[in-house]
Amino acid sequence: MDRIVIRGGRRLSGFVPISGAKNAALTLLPCALLTDEPLTLRNLPRLADVDSFGHLLNELGVSTMVEGSRPEDFGRVMTLRAAELTSLVAPYDIVRKMRASILVLGPLVARAGSATVSLPGGCAIGNRPIDLHLKALEALGAEIELAAGYVKATAPEGGLPGGHVIFPTVSVGATENALMAAVLARGTSIIDNAAREPEITDLARCLVAMGASIEGIGSERLVIEGRQRLHGATYQVMPDRIEAGSYACAAAITGGELVLGGAPVAEMAAVFAQLAEAGVTVSEDARGVRIAAPDRLRPLTVSTAPHPGFPTDMQAQFMAMLAIADGTSVLTETIFENRYMHVPELARMGADIQVRGRVVVVKGVDALVGAPVMATDLRASMSLILAGLAAGGQTEVARIYHLDRGYERLEEKLRAVGADIERISNG
Ligand code: EPU
Repeated sequence: MDRIVIRGGRRLSGFVPISGAKNAALTLLPCALLTDEPLTLRNLPRLADVDSFGHLLNELGVSTMVEGSRPEDFGRVMTLRAAELTSLVAPYDIVRKMRASILVLGPLVARAGSATVSLPGGCAIGNRPIDLHLKALEALGAEIELAAGYVKATAPEGGLPGGHVIFPTVSVGATENALMAAVLARGTSIIDNAAREPEITDLARCLVAMGASIEGIGSERLVIEGRQRLHGATYQVMPDRIEAGSYACAAAITGGELVLGGAPVAEMAAVFAQLAEAGVTVSEDARGVRIAAPDRLRPLTVSTAPHPGFPTDMQAQFMAMLAIADGTSVLTETIFENRYMHVPELARMGADIQVRGRVVVVKGVDALVGAPVMATDLRASMSLILAGLAAGGQTEVARIYHLDRGYERLEEKLRAVGADIERISNG
């Protein structure tokens, strides 16, 4: 298996281009299921998860065509066309590798009247049930059956009637599934307590470009007037706020200065506010946003929350950064119950971190030391890369397939700003 080897202690400086957002891409791709006309997505990041989603859509009968992109380009343009759906089943083999596969359930049942998706099961960051997805589709008029590890959603004769979805707690994926189903329902639907993540706004804008009628975009109440059919469109995937936040941490942890090209500044307010609190200078630049680290970071008290709060997807990277801050920080994870798998690995690099339930106390140390480490999920892996960039000596990060799921050409981007980092293939 491949490993990433970092010889740390170098101050990063320069320009990092920010790629298209993984989590926006993973909800924009299934929009292709909603129409028989072509959907062209621009700025799709080159990531393993995007490829896997493409394969899943191919299984369902969607053709995918990547337009002449050169190897040196970041991002791709992909045209997807679901002229005719040849299968309505998302099989276990694909779903178990990529939880986001559940996002085909809503659009498939809305367009084809039925959909069967394997239950995703648990994952490294927690239990992650899909009950909210299923309750939302039921509220829109689908009948839900569970059998043999699969969930089947069926619309009544004539299609989903639409309805009123009230989420008891905020869910990004369930909001996306409900929205993609509601746009093709017969009547008007309301989604209350909708997630307000920027990726949902991106999804809603793409659906509107395809002819959908959605009011309240960006708010916690979405009102959708169902359409009989949607048409094709060309849509540009938003830049990745979590990738940008991760590189901001790379600048901060190495005492460096980076310009994050095309970073979605407005969508990153909570992350930038915390960075500023830690003493990092964040300023807008003609090409994006400039991040300049202080001599020593100040400690923080941070709690994750749904957008516009501080994102759970940045918690691990902040923990790495705060491990060398000048004082004691307190991090609280409120979204996932088991998202501290990076703690023991950071501790092996010399971090002083104690977990007390959902609360983590990080006592800043003077320096981290390189070590062989491995991670169990994407953001945890990134926190180890960050720790490795700051640590003295050599860090080897194993199981880097997690990183390939979510960071486009990570080593290349980091090398270009001065990191000593390489991928070693074990063949
Ligand atoms: N939840 C339920 N029932 C459901 C759905 C969710 O109890 O039916 C719970 C989850 O277990 C969790 C909370 O609700 O405790 C929030 O989960 P949510 O549904 O919002 O998360 P998601 O849609 O599964 C997306 C991102 C995650 C990101 C979360 C939170 C994608 C593909 N994934 O997951 O991204 O952490 O929202 O912002 O969009 C990542 O990129 O590393 C990543 C994990």
